[in-house]
Amino acid sequence: MSERHQQVEQAILARRERINETLPEALPVTRPEGLYEATRYLLDAGGKRLRPTVLLLVGESLLSVEPRGADYRAFPTLEDGEVDLLSAAIAIEVIQTFTLIHDDIMDDDDLRRGVPAVHKEYDLSTAILAGDTLYSKAFEFLLSTGAAHDRTVAANKRLAETCTRICEGQSLDIEFEARDAVTPDEYLEMVELKTAVLYGAAAAIPATLLGADEETVEALYNHGLDVGRAFQIQDDLLDLTTPSEKLGKQRGSDLVENKQTLVTLHAEQQGVDVANLVDTDSVEAVSEAEIDEAVETLHEAGSIEYARSRAQELVTSGKENLKVLPDNEARDLLSGIADYLVEREY
Ligand code: IPE
Ligand code: IPE
Ligand code: MG
Ligand code: MG
Ligand code: MG
Repeated sequence: MSERHQQVEQAILARRERINETLPEALPVTRPEGLYEATRYLLDAGGKRLRPTVLLLVGESLLSVEPRGADYRAFPTLEDGEVDLLSAAIAIEVIQTFTLIHDDIMDDDDLRRGVPAVHKEYDLSTAILAGDTLYSKAFEFLLSTGAAHDRTVAANKRLAETCTRICEGQSLDIEFEARDAVTPDEYLEMVELKTAVLYGAAAAIPATLLGADEETVEALYNHGLDVGRAFQIQDDLLDLTTPSEKLGKQRGSDLVENKQTLVTLHAEQQGVDVANLVDTDSVEAVSEAEIDEAVETLHEAGSIEYARSRAQELVTSGKENLKVLPDNEARDLLSGIADYLVEREY
């Protein structure tokens, strides 16, 4: 592992710890306990915390705050005031977790963050409610950063629009399962909506709260969109290549569910019979050998390599947009995270 890769992992770890220690106070288990235990269950199970890390790093870079000295609860704005940046970071992570709970119901997945999915550990009603609770709590958190009124409104508007788009993207993702052919542009639109907009929000919201100009906010949003698209392409690749124990979710799930990914739609163009790559129609029943064989076919068709290079292009263009930030350590780390998103193995 390169020194830079290690620095990036260290940076994520430090911010993940800060976020994790805040979660119990932000989401205490109160009555009804059954509901609040379920809302905390997946948050406590783990998760990389990549999006809130991006949010904190954008704040650190904009203000050139020394990473080790950052007081996220009373974070300086670009003028005199202070905002609670940690509440904004928690809002983003809570939205992420809400989408995962509902996504596992839709994708019929049983394993998440290395533990049974919420609808398996509890039941369907509790999982729907836990997701809904996290969804609305996120707005409570983002409304309580202490930022100026107009910035609070703008940040919450961004988050609300983001959630609408995630639903649109998830709807397209499901619709594509039954479609014969999907083009690369249609795939990229779908992942922009279901995944990239949350990275965009994570990068743009701190800039809004801290009082950055519109041009900076938009460049950061576009940064998030590009690295978010790349992130989803890598997620699709990891679904094929990373063992379930390491991934914390079921390997091969996308093949079983007939998901359209950049890998499968490229393979289809090369004449691979993608619909029949695996015969099994349940995630529990599919064998490692069956997935291995499918992956080998996709490799031979050049489809894995094709998806990798498309992800790489997006990272390169995403990094261009970081030029609006001051040249400092936090900006370097954001650039390193962009690379990490497509280099990661889980
Ligand atoms: C998974 O996101 C959902 C996708 C958009 C592919 P992550 O891989 O960031 O999941 P956690 O938060 O680390 O569990
Ligand atoms: C998830 O995409 C996008 C979300 C909005 C959660 P996936 O369905 O590929 O995510 P995983 O692989 O289950 O984490
Ligand atoms: Mg899924
Ligand atoms: Mg899904
Ligand atoms: Mg996936």
